[in-house]
Amino acid sequence: MNRLNCAARLMLVSDLDYTMVDHDDPHNGALHRFNSLWEAYYRHDSLLVFSTGRSPTSYTKLRNEKPLLTPDITVMSVGTEIAYGDSMVPDYDWERSLNHKWDREIVTDETAKFPELVFQSETEQRPHKVSFFVDKAKAPQIINLLQARLVARGLDIKIIYSGGEALDVLPRGAGKGQALAYLLKKFQADDKYPINTLVCGDSGNDAELFTVPGVYGVMVSNAQEELLEWHAQNAKNNENIIHASERCAAGIMQAIGHFDLGPSSSPRDAIDLSQCMTENMNPGFEIVKFYLSCERWRRGDVTKSGDFFQNLKSHFHPSGIFVHPSGVQKCFDECLTALENSYGNEKGCGFWLWLDRISSAQIGSDTWLVKFDKWEQSGEERRCCLTTVLLNSKADGYTWMHIHQTWMNGYTADGPGNWLF
Ligand code: GLC
Ligand code: MG
Repeated sequence: MNRLNCAARLMLVSDLDYTMVDHDDPHNGALHRFNSLWEAYYRHDSLLVFSTGRSPTSYTKLRNEKPLLTPDITVMSVGTEIAYGDSMVPDYDWERSLNHKWDREIVTDETAKFPELVFQSETEQRPHKVSFFVDKAKAPQIINLLQARLVARGLDIKIIYSGGEALDVLPRGAGKGQALAYLLKKFQADDKYPINTLVCGDSGNDAELFTVPGVYGVMVSNAQEELLEWHAQNAKNNENIIHASERCAAGIMQAIGHFDLGPSSSPRDAIDLSQCMTENMNPGFEIVKFYLSCERWRRGDVTKSGDFFQNLKSHFHPSGIFVHPSGVQKCFDECLTALENSYGNEKGCGFWLWLDRISSAQIGSDTWLVKFDKWEQSGEERRCCLTTVLLNSKADGYTWMHIHQTWMNGYTADGPGNWLF
Protein backbone atom coordinates (compact mmCIF):
# COMPACT_ATOMS: atom_id res chain seq x y z
CA MET A 1 0.00 0.00 0.00
CA ASN A 2 2.98 2.26 0.30
CA ARG A 3 6.15 2.82 -1.72
CA LEU A 4 8.26 3.82 1.32
CA ASN A 5 10.18 1.10 3.07
CA CYS A 6 10.06 2.82 6.42
CA ALA A 7 7.70 5.07 8.36
CA ALA A 8 6.77 8.29 6.60
CA ARG A 9 8.40 11.41 8.05
CA LEU A 10 5.17 13.25 7.33
CA MET A 11 1.84 11.94 6.19
CA LEU A 12 -0.08 14.87 4.79
CA VAL A 13 -3.79 14.24 4.40
CA SER A 14 -5.56 16.98 2.51
CA ASP A 15 -9.00 17.72 1.19
CA LEU A 16 -8.97 19.08 -2.38
CA ASP A 17 -11.70 21.63 -3.14
CA TYR A 18 -10.94 24.90 -1.38
CA THR A 19 -8.18 23.25 0.67
CA MET A 20 -5.46 22.05 -1.72
CA VAL A 21 -7.17 23.75 -4.66
CA ASP A 22 -8.22 27.38 -4.50
CA HIS A 23 -10.93 27.71 -7.12
CA ASP A 24 -10.79 31.48 -6.68
CA ASP A 25 -7.19 31.65 -7.91
CA PRO A 26 -6.99 30.96 -11.66
CA HIS A 27 -3.17 31.00 -11.50
CA ASN A 28 -3.02 28.27 -8.82
CA GLY A 29 -0.23 30.24 -7.17
CA ALA A 30 -0.34 28.61 -3.73
CA LEU A 31 -0.81 25.17 -5.24
CA HIS A 32 2.31 25.60 -7.37
CA ARG A 33 4.21 26.77 -4.29
CA PHE A 34 3.04 23.73 -2.33
CA ASN A 35 3.92 21.37 -5.19
CA SER A 36 7.51 22.64 -5.34
CA LEU A 37 7.83 22.35 -1.57
CA TRP A 38 6.54 18.79 -1.58
CA GLU A 39 8.68 17.53 -4.48
CA ALA A 40 11.82 19.26 -3.21
CA TYR A 41 11.69 18.24 0.44
CA TYR A 42 9.03 15.61 1.12
CA ARG A 43 8.35 13.32 -1.81
CA HIS A 44 11.26 11.00 -1.06
CA ASP A 45 10.35 10.15 2.54
CA SER A 46 6.78 11.29 3.15
CA LEU A 47 3.27 10.40 2.06
CA LEU A 48 0.74 12.55 0.29
CA VAL A 49 -2.87 11.56 0.77
CA PHE A 50 -5.79 13.31 -0.90
CA SER A 51 -9.10 12.90 0.86
CA THR A 52 -11.95 14.26 -1.20
CA GLY A 53 -15.73 14.17 -1.36
CA ARG A 54 -15.45 13.73 -5.10
CA SER A 55 -16.17 10.46 -6.85
CA PRO A 56 -13.44 8.89 -9.00
CA THR A 57 -15.04 10.52 -12.05
CA SER A 58 -15.09 14.06 -10.70
CA TYR A 59 -11.68 13.63 -9.06
CA THR A 60 -10.23 12.71 -12.47
CA LYS A 61 -11.87 15.79 -13.94
CA LEU A 62 -10.26 18.01 -11.32
CA ARG A 63 -6.85 16.45 -11.99
CA ASN A 64 -7.19 17.37 -15.64
CA GLU A 65 -8.05 20.94 -14.79
CA LYS A 66 -5.59 21.71 -12.01
CA PRO A 67 -1.86 21.10 -11.52
CA LEU A 68 -2.36 18.55 -8.75
CA LEU A 69 0.46 16.26 -7.72
CA THR A 70 -0.04 12.50 -7.82
CA PRO A 71 -0.86 11.39 -4.28
CA ASP A 72 0.36 8.14 -2.73
CA ILE A 73 -3.13 7.34 -1.51
CA THR A 74 -6.46 8.69 -2.75
CA VAL A 75 -9.50 8.64 -0.50
CA MET A 76 -12.61 9.47 -2.52
CA SER A 77 -16.37 9.78 -2.18
CA VAL A 78 -16.15 11.09 1.41
CA GLY A 79 -14.04 8.23 2.73
CA THR A 80 -15.99 5.44 1.10
CA GLU A 81 -13.36 4.58 -1.54
CA ILE A 82 -9.61 4.19 -1.02
CA ALA A 83 -7.07 3.68 -3.80
CA TYR A 84 -3.30 3.20 -3.68
CA GLY A 85 -0.48 4.44 -5.84
CA ASP A 86 -0.25 5.97 -9.30
CA SER A 87 -2.41 3.23 -10.75
CA MET A 88 -5.05 3.70 -8.05
CA VAL A 89 -5.48 0.14 -6.88
CA PRO A 90 -8.82 -0.01 -5.00
CA ASP A 91 -9.01 -1.27 -1.42
CA TYR A 92 -11.87 -3.73 -1.69
CA ASP A 93 -11.47 -4.82 1.95
CA TRP A 94 -12.36 -1.30 3.00
CA GLU A 95 -15.40 -1.19 0.74
CA ARG A 96 -16.59 -4.59 1.97
CA SER A 97 -16.32 -3.44 5.57
CA LEU A 98 -18.81 -0.66 4.80
CA ASN A 99 -21.67 -3.06 4.03
CA HIS A 100 -22.48 -3.45 7.71
CA LYS A 101 -26.09 -2.30 8.29
CA TRP A 102 -26.06 -0.46 4.97
CA ASP A 103 -28.66 -0.75 2.26
CA ARG A 104 -28.62 1.80 -0.52
CA GLU A 105 -32.18 1.06 -1.53
CA ILE A 106 -33.55 1.84 1.89
CA VAL A 107 -31.64 5.14 1.81
CA THR A 108 -33.03 6.16 -1.58
CA ASP A 109 -36.47 5.00 -0.52
CA GLU A 110 -36.51 7.16 2.62
CA THR A 111 -34.80 10.21 1.10
CA ALA A 112 -37.34 10.24 -1.74
CA LYS A 113 -39.92 11.27 0.86
CA PHE A 114 -38.16 14.63 1.31
CA PRO A 115 -38.92 16.93 -1.63
CA GLU A 116 -36.31 19.39 -0.28
CA LEU A 117 -33.53 16.91 -1.05
CA VAL A 118 -32.23 17.41 -4.58
CA PHE A 119 -30.33 14.46 -5.99
CA GLN A 120 -26.74 15.26 -7.03
CA SER A 121 -25.45 14.15 -10.43
CA GLU A 122 -25.35 10.42 -11.15
CA THR A 123 -21.52 10.36 -11.06
CA GLU A 124 -21.57 11.38 -7.39
CA GLN A 125 -23.88 8.53 -6.33
CA ARG A 126 -21.62 5.71 -5.21
CA PRO A 127 -22.10 2.26 -3.67
CA HIS A 128 -21.66 3.63 -0.13
CA LYS A 129 -22.62 7.27 -0.65
CA VAL A 130 -25.95 8.84 -1.55
CA SER A 131 -25.69 12.60 -2.11
CA PHE A 132 -28.06 15.54 -2.31
CA PHE A 133 -28.19 19.30 -2.25
CA VAL A 134 -30.31 20.93 0.42
CA ASP A 135 -30.94 24.42 1.58
CA LYS A 136 -28.85 25.55 4.54
CA ALA A 137 -31.87 26.70 6.54
CA LYS A 138 -33.68 23.38 6.16
CA ALA A 139 -30.68 21.12 6.64
CA PRO A 140 -30.58 20.63 10.45
CA GLN A 141 -34.20 19.56 10.70
CA ILE A 142 -34.02 17.22 7.72
CA ILE A 143 -30.84 15.64 9.01
CA ASN A 144 -32.47 14.80 12.35
CA LEU A 145 -35.63 13.40 10.84
CA LEU A 146 -33.86 11.41 8.14
CA GLN A 147 -31.40 9.99 10.64
CA ALA A 148 -34.24 8.78 12.85
CA ARG A 149 -36.11 7.20 9.95
CA LEU A 150 -33.08 5.35 8.62
CA VAL A 151 -32.22 4.05 12.08
CA ALA A 152 -35.82 2.91 12.46
CA ARG A 153 -35.38 0.88 9.28
CA GLY A 154 -32.38 -0.90 10.73
CA LEU A 155 -29.53 1.03 9.16
CA ASP A 156 -26.42 2.33 10.87
CA ILE A 157 -25.57 5.49 8.96
CA LYS A 158 -24.17 8.98 9.25
CA ILE A 159 -25.27 12.17 7.54
CA ILE A 160 -22.69 14.81 6.70
CA TYR A 161 -23.38 18.37 5.66
CA SER A 162 -20.71 20.29 3.70
CA GLY A 163 -20.14 23.59 1.97
CA GLY A 164 -23.49 24.93 3.15
CA GLU A 165 -25.21 22.88 0.43
CA ALA A 166 -24.22 19.20 0.13
CA LEU A 167 -25.74 16.38 2.17
CA ASP A 168 -24.18 12.93 2.08
CA VAL A 169 -25.62 9.75 3.56
CA LEU A 170 -22.92 7.18 4.33
CA PRO A 171 -22.52 3.98 6.36
CA ARG A 172 -21.55 4.86 9.94
CA GLY A 173 -18.15 3.22 9.52
CA ALA A 174 -17.33 5.43 6.51
CA GLY A 175 -16.20 9.04 6.27
CA LYS A 176 -12.85 10.77 5.91
CA GLY A 177 -11.94 10.28 9.57
CA GLN A 178 -12.73 6.54 9.61
CA ALA A 179 -10.81 6.06 6.37
CA LEU A 180 -7.76 7.77 7.84
CA ALA A 181 -8.01 5.72 11.05
CA TYR A 182 -8.16 2.57 8.89
CA LEU A 183 -5.01 3.62 6.98
CA LEU A 184 -3.14 4.43 10.18
CA LYS A 185 -4.06 1.05 11.60
CA LYS A 186 -2.66 -0.62 8.51
CA PHE A 187 0.57 1.35 8.83
CA GLN A 188 0.79 0.34 12.46
CA ALA A 189 0.43 -3.33 11.53
CA ASP A 190 3.30 -2.89 9.04
CA ASP A 191 5.42 -1.10 11.63
CA LYS A 192 5.37 2.03 9.48
CA TYR A 193 3.28 4.38 11.58
CA PRO A 194 3.97 7.91 10.25
CA ILE A 195 6.16 10.06 12.49
CA ASN A 196 3.80 13.00 12.00
CA THR A 197 0.39 13.30 10.41
CA LEU A 198 -1.17 16.59 9.33
CA VAL A 199 -4.79 16.79 8.23
CA CYS A 200 -6.08 19.75 6.22
CA GLY A 201 -9.62 20.77 5.45
CA ASP A 202 -12.19 23.49 4.91
CA SER A 203 -15.69 22.04 5.20
CA GLY A 204 -18.10 19.77 7.04
CA ASN A 205 -16.95 16.46 5.63
CA ASP A 206 -13.41 17.26 6.85
CA ALA A 207 -14.44 17.63 10.52
CA GLU A 208 -13.86 13.97 11.33
CA LEU A 209 -10.28 14.16 10.08
CA PHE A 210 -9.57 16.38 13.08
CA THR A 211 -10.90 13.78 15.52
CA VAL A 212 -8.32 11.11 14.62
CA PRO A 213 -6.07 10.71 17.69
CA GLY A 214 -2.56 12.08 17.49
CA VAL A 215 -2.86 14.10 14.30
CA TYR A 216 -2.10 17.76 13.72
CA GLY A 217 -4.78 19.68 11.90
CA VAL A 218 -5.26 22.85 9.92
CA MET A 219 -8.50 24.50 8.96
CA VAL A 220 -7.54 26.82 6.13
CA SER A 221 -8.41 30.51 6.55
CA ASN A 222 -11.29 30.22 4.11
CA ALA A 223 -12.89 27.33 6.04
CA GLN A 224 -16.68 27.06 5.92
CA GLU A 225 -18.86 28.16 8.79
CA GLU A 226 -20.00 24.58 9.50
CA LEU A 227 -16.40 23.44 10.12
CA LEU A 228 -15.54 26.44 12.30
CA GLU A 229 -18.71 25.87 14.30
CA TRP A 230 -17.91 22.21 14.72
CA HIS A 231 -14.45 23.18 15.93
CA ALA A 232 -15.78 25.74 18.40
CA GLN A 233 -18.11 23.13 19.89
CA ASN A 234 -15.86 20.09 19.84
CA ALA A 235 -12.17 20.87 19.64
CA LYS A 236 -11.66 24.41 20.85
CA ASN A 237 -8.96 23.48 23.35
CA ASN A 238 -7.01 21.16 21.10
CA GLU A 239 -3.68 22.90 20.52
CA ASN A 240 -2.87 20.56 17.68
CA ILE A 241 -5.51 22.17 15.50
CA ILE A 242 -5.10 25.64 14.04
CA HIS A 243 -7.22 27.93 11.95
CA ALA A 244 -4.69 29.28 9.44
CA SER A 245 -4.57 32.91 8.43
CA GLU A 246 -3.68 31.84 4.89
CA ARG A 247 -5.99 30.42 2.27
CA CYS A 248 -5.92 26.87 0.92
CA ALA A 249 -2.46 25.42 0.10
CA ALA A 250 -0.79 28.47 1.64
CA GLY A 251 -2.57 27.58 4.89
CA ILE A 252 -1.22 24.03 4.65
CA MET A 253 2.35 25.34 4.36
CA GLN A 254 1.67 27.69 7.24
CA ALA A 255 0.63 24.72 9.40
CA ILE A 256 3.74 22.72 8.46
CA GLY A 257 5.75 25.65 9.78
CA HIS A 258 3.56 26.23 12.83
CA PHE A 259 3.82 22.63 14.02
CA ASP A 260 7.47 22.42 13.00
CA LEU A 261 6.92 19.39 10.80
CA GLY A 262 9.73 20.17 8.35
CA PRO A 263 10.65 22.77 5.73
CA SER A 264 7.70 25.08 5.15
CA SER A 265 8.90 27.68 2.74
CA SER A 266 8.53 26.82 -0.88
CA PRO A 267 11.54 26.96 -3.19
CA ARG A 268 9.29 29.21 -5.28
CA ASP A 269 9.54 31.81 -2.53
CA ALA A 270 13.35 31.94 -2.70
CA ILE A 271 14.56 34.86 -4.75
CA ASP A 272 18.03 33.42 -5.04
CA LEU A 273 17.71 29.66 -5.47
CA SER A 274 21.43 29.03 -5.14
CA GLN A 275 21.11 30.26 -1.54
CA CYS A 276 19.14 27.19 -0.44
CA MET A 277 21.69 24.90 -2.03
CA THR A 278 24.03 23.53 0.59
CA GLU A 279 21.55 22.85 3.38
CA ASN A 280 19.39 20.61 1.23
CA MET A 281 21.43 18.02 -0.59
CA ASN A 282 18.75 15.78 -2.01
CA PRO A 283 18.30 14.97 -5.69
CA GLY A 284 14.64 16.05 -5.59
CA PHE A 285 15.61 19.51 -4.50
CA GLU A 286 18.24 19.74 -7.25
CA ILE A 287 15.64 18.87 -9.91
CA VAL A 288 13.06 21.32 -8.53
CA LYS A 289 15.66 24.07 -8.33
CA PHE A 290 16.87 23.60 -11.91
CA TYR A 291 13.41 23.61 -13.49
CA LEU A 292 12.33 26.54 -11.37
CA SER A 293 15.32 28.45 -12.70
CA CYS A 294 14.33 27.44 -16.24
CA GLU A 295 10.80 28.70 -15.60
CA ARG A 296 12.08 32.04 -14.35
CA TRP A 297 14.47 32.35 -17.28
CA ARG A 298 11.90 31.50 -19.94
CA ARG A 299 9.32 33.78 -18.34
CA GLY A 300 11.87 36.57 -18.13
CA ASP A 301 11.20 36.81 -14.37
CA VAL A 302 14.91 37.13 -13.58
CA THR A 303 17.16 39.82 -14.98
CA LYS A 304 19.02 38.59 -18.00
CA SER A 305 22.45 38.24 -16.51
CA GLY A 306 25.32 36.06 -17.59
CA ASP A 307 25.74 35.01 -13.98
CA PHE A 308 22.31 33.48 -13.69
CA PHE A 309 22.79 31.46 -16.83
CA GLN A 310 26.39 30.51 -16.06
CA ASN A 311 25.20 29.16 -12.74
CA LEU A 312 22.57 27.01 -14.48
CA LYS A 313 25.12 25.83 -16.98
CA SER A 314 27.73 24.96 -14.40
CA HIS A 315 25.57 22.01 -13.30
CA PHE A 316 25.85 20.29 -16.67
CA HIS A 317 28.63 17.92 -17.65
CA PRO A 318 30.34 19.15 -20.84
CA SER A 319 29.95 15.81 -22.61
CA GLY A 320 26.38 15.09 -21.40
CA ILE A 321 23.63 14.06 -23.81
CA PHE A 322 19.93 14.92 -23.94
CA VAL A 323 17.70 12.32 -25.57
CA HIS A 324 14.65 14.23 -26.76
CA PRO A 325 11.18 12.58 -26.66
CA SER A 326 11.24 12.45 -30.46
CA GLY A 327 14.21 10.09 -30.21
CA VAL A 328 16.71 12.62 -31.53
CA GLN A 329 19.71 13.31 -29.31
CA LYS A 330 21.84 16.37 -28.82
CA CYS A 331 24.74 17.30 -26.62
CA PHE A 332 24.05 19.45 -23.57
CA ASP A 333 25.98 22.38 -25.03
CA GLU A 334 23.63 22.76 -27.95
CA CYS A 335 20.56 22.49 -25.70
CA LEU A 336 21.95 24.99 -23.23
CA THR A 337 22.41 27.47 -26.07
CA ALA A 338 18.77 26.92 -27.02
CA LEU A 339 17.79 27.51 -23.40
CA GLU A 340 19.89 30.65 -23.21
CA ASN A 341 18.18 31.97 -26.33
CA SER A 342 14.75 31.25 -24.89
CA TYR A 343 15.05 34.06 -22.34
CA GLY A 344 11.65 35.72 -21.90
CA ASN A 345 9.99 33.67 -24.68
CA GLU A 346 7.16 32.78 -22.35
CA LYS A 347 6.72 36.22 -20.86
CA GLY A 348 3.06 36.97 -20.18
CA CYS A 349 2.01 33.57 -21.57
CA GLY A 350 0.84 32.09 -18.25
CA PHE A 351 3.85 29.78 -18.31
CA TRP A 352 4.38 27.23 -15.53
CA LEU A 353 6.83 24.40 -15.17
CA TRP A 354 6.29 21.86 -12.41
CA LEU A 355 7.38 18.39 -11.41
CA ASP A 356 5.52 15.41 -10.06
CA ARG A 357 6.43 11.96 -8.73
CA ILE A 358 10.15 12.63 -8.32
CA SER A 359 11.85 9.41 -7.28
CA SER A 360 15.54 8.76 -7.00
CA ALA A 361 17.80 5.78 -6.50
CA GLN A 362 21.40 5.92 -5.48
CA ILE A 363 23.12 3.57 -7.93
CA GLY A 364 26.73 4.24 -7.00
CA SER A 365 28.70 5.98 -4.27
CA ASP A 366 28.10 9.36 -5.93
CA THR A 367 25.61 8.53 -8.68
CA TRP A 368 21.83 8.98 -8.68
CA LEU A 369 19.19 7.94 -11.12
CA VAL A 370 16.25 10.30 -10.84
CA LYS A 371 12.87 9.89 -12.51
CA PHE A 372 9.95 12.34 -12.58
CA ASP A 373 7.13 13.82 -14.62
CA LYS A 374 7.99 17.22 -16.02
CA TRP A 375 4.92 19.32 -16.71
CA GLU A 376 4.84 22.46 -18.79
CA GLN A 377 1.89 24.76 -19.23
CA SER A 378 1.64 27.72 -21.53
CA GLY A 379 -1.76 29.38 -21.53
CA GLU A 380 -4.37 26.61 -21.67
CA GLU A 381 -2.06 23.99 -23.14
CA ARG A 382 -0.15 21.60 -20.99
CA ARG A 383 2.06 18.62 -21.65
CA CYS A 384 4.08 16.12 -19.73
CA CYS A 385 7.37 14.30 -20.27
CA LEU A 386 8.49 11.33 -18.26
CA THR A 387 12.08 12.32 -17.56
CA THR A 388 15.09 10.35 -16.36
CA VAL A 389 18.23 12.13 -15.22
CA LEU A 390 21.60 10.74 -14.23
CA LEU A 391 23.19 12.90 -11.52
CA ASN A 392 26.65 12.86 -10.06
CA SER A 393 26.93 14.26 -6.55
CA LYS A 394 29.83 16.46 -5.55
CA ALA A 395 30.65 18.13 -2.26
CA ASP A 396 28.84 21.31 -3.28
CA GLY A 397 25.99 20.03 -5.42
CA TYR A 398 25.18 17.84 -8.41
CA THR A 399 26.35 17.49 -11.99
CA TRP A 400 23.80 16.51 -14.63
CA MET A 401 25.27 13.71 -16.76
CA HIS A 402 22.43 12.52 -18.96
CA ILE A 403 18.75 13.33 -19.61
CA HIS A 404 16.18 11.18 -21.37
CA GLN A 405 12.55 12.14 -21.99
CA THR A 406 9.40 10.39 -23.23
CA TRP A 407 6.07 12.02 -24.04
CA MET A 408 3.29 11.18 -21.61
CA ASN A 409 -0.50 11.30 -21.56
CA GLY A 410 -0.77 10.63 -25.26
CA TYR A 411 0.98 13.84 -26.15
CA THR A 412 3.30 13.79 -29.14
CA ALA A 413 4.69 16.74 -31.02
CA ASP A 414 4.63 16.92 -34.80
CA GLY A 415 8.12 18.29 -34.99
CA PRO A 416 10.99 17.88 -32.59
CA GLY A 417 9.42 20.53 -30.29
CA ASN A 418 11.80 22.50 -28.15
CA TRP A 419 15.16 21.46 -26.80
CA LEU A 420 14.81 23.01 -23.39
CA PHE A 421 15.10 19.82 -21.34
C1 GLC B 1 -17.99 16.65 -3.27
C2 GLC B 1 -18.79 15.54 -3.89
C3 GLC B 1 -20.25 15.61 -3.47
C4 GLC B 1 -20.34 15.69 -1.95
C5 GLC B 1 -19.51 16.87 -1.45
C6 GLC B 1 -19.53 16.99 0.05
O1 GLC B 1 -18.34 17.86 -3.81
O2 GLC B 1 -18.72 15.62 -5.30
O3 GLC B 1 -20.95 14.48 -3.91
O4 GLC B 1 -21.67 15.83 -1.56
O5 GLC B 1 -18.19 16.68 -1.87
O6 GLC B 1 -19.07 15.85 0.69
MG1 MG C 1 -13.29 21.18 0.56
